[in-house]
Amino acid sequence: MSRYHQPVMLETCIRELKLKDHGIYVDATLGGGGHSLGMLKANPNIRLFAIDQDADAIAEASELLQDYPVTIIKANFQQLRTQLAYHKVKGIDGILFDLGVSSYQLDEAERGFSFDKDAILDMRMDRDQNLTAKDLINESSVDELKRIFKEYGEDAASGRIARAVEKARQNKEIVSTKELADIIESVVGTGSKESLKSKVRIFQALRIEVNNELGVLSSVLTDAINLLNPGGRIVVMSYHSLEDRIVKNAFRLAAQGCICPPAMIHCTCDHKRQLKIISKRPLVASADELAQNIRSRSVKLRVAEKIEGKK
Ligand SMILES: C[S@@+](CC[C@H](N)C(=O)[O-])C[C@H]1O[C@@H](n2cnc3c(N)ncnc32)[C@H](O)[C@@H]1O
Repeated sequence: MSRYHQPVMLETCIRELKLKDHGIYVDATLGGGGHSLGMLKANPNIRLFAIDQDADAIAEASELLQDYPVTIIKANFQQLRTQLAYHKVKGIDGILFDLGVSSYQLDEAERGFSFDKDAILDMRMDRDQNLTAKDLINESSVDELKRIFKEYGEDAASGRIARAVEKARQNKEIVSTKELADIIESVVGTGSKESLKSKVRIFQALRIEVNNELGVLSSVLTDAINLLNPGGRIVVMSYHSLEDRIVKNAFRLAAQGCICPPAMIHCTCDHKRQLKIISKRPLVASADELAQNIRSRSVKLRVAEKIEGKK
């Protein structure tokens, strides 16, 4: 199994994508290439496009997939439509999103994602991007930091931690993951489960903001659903409740016909039903997988299928 990243719910993804001969598929979050490899092995007759914004992921997966016919694209999946148009693809038969960061990104100290590995506060998935976690921590207002910690980390001590950051940076720029972890501990204490959870939440919140993870998700889901051919499937794996809510709502909206307010006598919205939701409740990892792969602990997998546009 790859040390880069062990693919989560691989068999379920392959089963739910219903890969068909000569179909066009997209792996929107290539990572170490585990899911792409699984797809190509399950049906070597598909045409696969695989996207990642991280150059390390592209390098790792390019090696893994070197003997397979796959088009690998370094881009933000926000550019799904334009990237596929560039390759003259007008419709796709399935798309997979395995959201968030890979084990490699979390474990590789110098990427600056983890509080237990001392490094410069970086957290960029795409290292061509300018904004880093260090910029955010040192340049955001206290209110902005509080919003980020509260909205994306849902930590009860968000306000106090934001104020502690402001106090610390008056003396000296906050540069490293360890410095930030120490500031969090100065507020919530050390050694307890709660203190560990606060560090997880605050680091997660920063990572989400640095990479605009939630901002790009809704728009790419709309594009992906529009691109799907009838019968094509969208499979999305998310790892925290904010992401999952966006996926659930995007699927629900696309599975609805008219969305006019109930008081309207005649429909004016022109909204068409595009999706049939296949997973009424999100699928989760099996007990066996949970025992083997800690990353599968929080996964929620949702599946939907494109239908002919109907009112
Ligand atoms: C959970 S990992 C995917 C792991 C992969 N399925 C595998 O089996 O190895 C998520 C990957 O998606 C990439 N990613 C996350 N958000 C992205 C975005 N908006 N655009 C492009 N890539 C993104 C990350 O860089 C990371 O490599």
